[in-house]
Amino acid sequence: MFLLLILYTEFWGKIAKEFYWKTPYTGNFMDYNFDLTRAKIYIRCMQGATTNMCYNVLDRNVNEKKLGDKIAFYWEGNKPEDYARITYKELLQQVCKFANVLRAQGIKKGDHVAIYMPMIIELIVAMLACARVGAVHSIVFAGFSAEALSERILDCSCSLLITADGFYRGDKFIKLKEITDEALKLHGENPVKKCIVVKHLKATKENDKTSTQSNLPPAKRACLKLQDNHNEKAKNVLHKTQIPWNEEVDVWWHEVMKEAGEECEPEWCSAEDPLFILYTSGSTGKPKGVKHTIGGYLLYTATTFKYVFDYQPSDVYWCTADVGWITGHSYLTYGPLANGATSVLFEGVPTYPDVSRFWEIIDKYLVTKFYTAPTAIRLLMKYGDEPVKRFSRKSLKILGTVGEPINPEAWLWYYNVVGDRRCPIMDTYWQTETGGHMLTPLPAVTPLKPGSATLPFFSVVPAILSESGEELEGEAEGYLVFKKPWPSIMREVYGSYERFESSYFKRFPGYFVTGDGCKRDKDGYYWITGRIDDMLNISGHLLSTAEVESAIMEHLAVAEVAAVSHPHPVKGESLYCFVTLKDGHEFTDELVTELKNQVRKKIGPIAAPDYIQIAAQLPKTRSGKIMRRLLRKIARNERDLGNTSTLADESVLEALFKNRVETI
Ligand code: WT7
Repeated sequence: MFLLLILYTEFWGKIAKEFYWKTPYTGNFMDYNFDLTRAKIYIRCMQGATTNMCYNVLDRNVNEKKLGDKIAFYWEGNKPEDYARITYKELLQQVCKFANVLRAQGIKKGDHVAIYMPMIIELIVAMLACARVGAVHSIVFAGFSAEALSERILDCSCSLLITADGFYRGDKFIKLKEITDEALKLHGENPVKKCIVVKHLKATKENDKTSTQSNLPPAKRACLKLQDNHNEKAKNVLHKTQIPWNEEVDVWWHEVMKEAGEECEPEWCSAEDPLFILYTSGSTGKPKGVKHTIGGYLLYTATTFKYVFDYQPSDVYWCTADVGWITGHSYLTYGPLANGATSVLFEGVPTYPDVSRFWEIIDKYLVTKFYTAPTAIRLLMKYGDEPVKRFSRKSLKILGTVGEPINPEAWLWYYNVVGDRRCPIMDTYWQTETGGHMLTPLPAVTPLKPGSATLPFFSVVPAILSESGEELEGEAEGYLVFKKPWPSIMREVYGSYERFESSYFKRFPGYFVTGDGCKRDKDGYYWITGRIDDMLNISGHLLSTAEVESAIMEHLAVAEVAAVSHPHPVKGESLYCFVTLKDGHEFTDELVTELKNQVRKKIGPIAAPDYIQIAAQLPKTRSGKIMRRLLRKIARNERDLGNTSTLADESVLEALFKNRVETI
């Protein structure tokens, strides 16, 4: 045990030396308590150290590593002809300017800043500028609704909001500023004092009209786009009238940037100061603000990125995740930048303008490492091999997947067709809460098995527990937990320490509980079997059934609702809902559409249920608890219901089977 501790400290201590610490840590590399029965839960990494995240991922690369002229991001817009690039030096310059803007707006260390933006370079600039001034960013995925945005802004009291006028995802136009305004009006007292708006649409539209920009060298176009010299007053006025504008609150990004200086001293923070808060679904329905801190998160994302993708300086790396999710934070922004990597930042979708877009982009930038989600693979697999084979993909070396269990069929297609049987697949299992990869193969080291996230990363100690909390050895199936902390483990649920402790440490004292079921095979490989709580994973996005149920309950016609997970060939899982109506209401197609829209409005399109069925009554236990296990079976038309003896009234089942909705 003691030897393990020394190895652990040595391993991370050596890695820490590669980064910049204004003052070193004193004492242990990590201090923690995982046992709630003994004392309060706490996790601290590198106490006493002071540093700055932005300095480590930008200044250190530009000044010490001499990577100033290296490309940090190739930006690929929604349309193939809309693209740009930015070097480390240019990115640092933009970040310093925007950090000065933040300071001029009164933002200081510890303040919370909400970011609600499309996948554009300004989004990365905004995040890193927050990190530079010690502010805590809280990014809300731009596919979330006004209500979801408002709830998150209120929960973490953001005084500033950064957004854009709007953007296209494929053919779909998203009026981001309008949604933002709606969110700010939803609750009487909203904490947002200022809203900084990137003029993104205009840049896109200009490109549409004149093809001249596309003819310029990419570096020049990047500068054009980033400096955004929109000083033609007339156009500004026109644009302002097109999108809602509130003079007291709203300011244009390019206008405040014009005045901003390029010198900006980073704010030196403690390694344990917060870096960001990111919301994830909680099983009670209310999203949880997962808080991550600077030092440990920097070390862990940098190290996992380096080893899992076998990072080489000549790589062009592409992670298709949106920055609004943890994958975009850890493996599109902080991990790759900490290594001085060149990445692709893609604004669009895999099916626009056609289903070859991913492979086209891989050839365009000669991508070497590609990281995506099983749902995207399953979606593209439907169109066969031809759209893939149209492009060479010769540059590819390593493929990655994340977000949900990958079925062996999709794994094999990814391996055989996309990677031409040359590229190992890194199936990375982790969570918003873990900050970085937990179970993952390493290229050329770990023999792969399709569908298994294989083995723990360095210093990760998993265990499989039985229902009664016993650690199971050898081949086993049960609850996946972690026995020891790792540097990027979350530090709290923002606003409720009690919820942090009860969500992750209460069920099995002494362990971090993931909420996932897991099998270990005879070779010690781990196979995630899916969530064991009332959570489901739609296209790699975690949702709680409670969250969807409470959205549907708000509809006037609804008396009761139960949502369960149903398998889906592309999305992995989808939602199947049973609703009981109040007297006097009829179950019509219009009502079904209204209920689906209600969920879109409250949460966002990703959460909209695929199926809604009428239920005269729901199956309940004698104590009144809805028996979701039975509803899951009914949704799947599985007649073998197992033990139904706890059911208060067995007769409800037949009616439920009769009214089933046909599923795919
Ligand atoms: C949940 C976490 C991690 C970033 C994206 C999702 C599921 C994630 C895998 C994988 C099987 C996986 C788990 C986990 N999950 N990756 N490789 N194999 N399941 O982050 O929204 O916090 O979701 O996603 O169920 O608990 P998240």
